[in-house]
Amino acid sequence: MIPELSKSSVFMRDPGRVEQMLASMRNAGSSTLQVISDFDMTLTRFAYNGKRCPTCHNILDNSELISEDCKAKLQDLLDTYYPIEIDSTRSVEEKLPLMVEWWTKAHELLVQQKIRKDNLAPAVRESEAMLREGYQQFFDNLHQMCVPLLIFSAGIGDVLEEVIRQAGVFHPNVKVFSNYMDFDESGVLQAFKGQLIHIYNKREGALLNTEHFHELRSRSNVLLLGDSLGDLHMADGVTDMQNILKIGYLNDKVEERKPSYLNAYDIVLEKDETMDVPNGILLYITGQK
Ligand code: TMP
Ligand code: MG
Repeated sequence: MIPELSKSSVFMRDPGRVEQMLASMRNAGSSTLQVISDFDMTLTRFAYNGKRCPTCHNILDNSELISEDCKAKLQDLLDTYYPIEIDSTRSVEEKLPLMVEWWTKAHELLVQQKIRKDNLAPAVRESEAMLREGYQQFFDNLHQMCVPLLIFSAGIGDVLEEVIRQAGVFHPNVKVFSNYMDFDESGVLQAFKGQLIHIYNKREGALLNTEHFHELRSRSNVLLLGDSLGDLHMADGVTDMQNILKIGYLNDKVEERKPSYLNAYDIVLEKDETMDVPNGILLYITGQK
């Protein structure tokens, strides 16, 4: 059906169910489809030539906009909290307050740096951020087929938008829920806007945006892309859901985390730096193949 599903990076708990869901989604057609995707390490690469690629936060952490002293503090936070984020021996309940702590401390440090809005685009341009191989086809195809794409990110909205703008794929069918920076009248970062989104409150984030999901209520088939177990809640606001096909990128601590990913995601992509599988699936569902 979909040749990309035979790649060696693809694992499925129940291939029969995936096949059924794909057939049902294809039957219903692209006018009933919406795509909801995480950004960091889902639409962007986890590694390139053996080197880790940056998240939205890391793009700033590594830039000239941050003092050396602040860089060291942000690195300490990353060294402390990232291992907790990916620790499969701790429960979500245990991790949740620690993730709030990480985001809160990191945002406080960023605000102290008096970052200027007009310096964000150059920082992104000079960064090593990379969208996954095949991203152009992914974004362009969704645009051509008039399928809405929601990017739901616990990263930084202003940075994420700049990444996709510079890549030439910030099409009108793309909507972003994320943490946005609040600049004062002279264009200096003074705070972050609205309710904080971290990796484990995407459910609350989704439920705050009922208007968006109401507008898309006729699109009852969802393709969800994520890389963390928290991403599974990105579609919690979708009304009248028929099918939800969940694709999970398993980037790090692969052996330890594989059982929980196989259990939670319909398709698990192990150390796969491409958009091949989502692209193959989209061509199939939208009847182009
Ligand atoms: P997301 O991919 O679920 O939207 O989450 C954003 C990622 O950002 C998450 O994997 C942790 C990462 N992160 C950093 O790299 N640096 C930081 O300072 C913070 C708060 C998060
Ligand atoms: Mg992510």
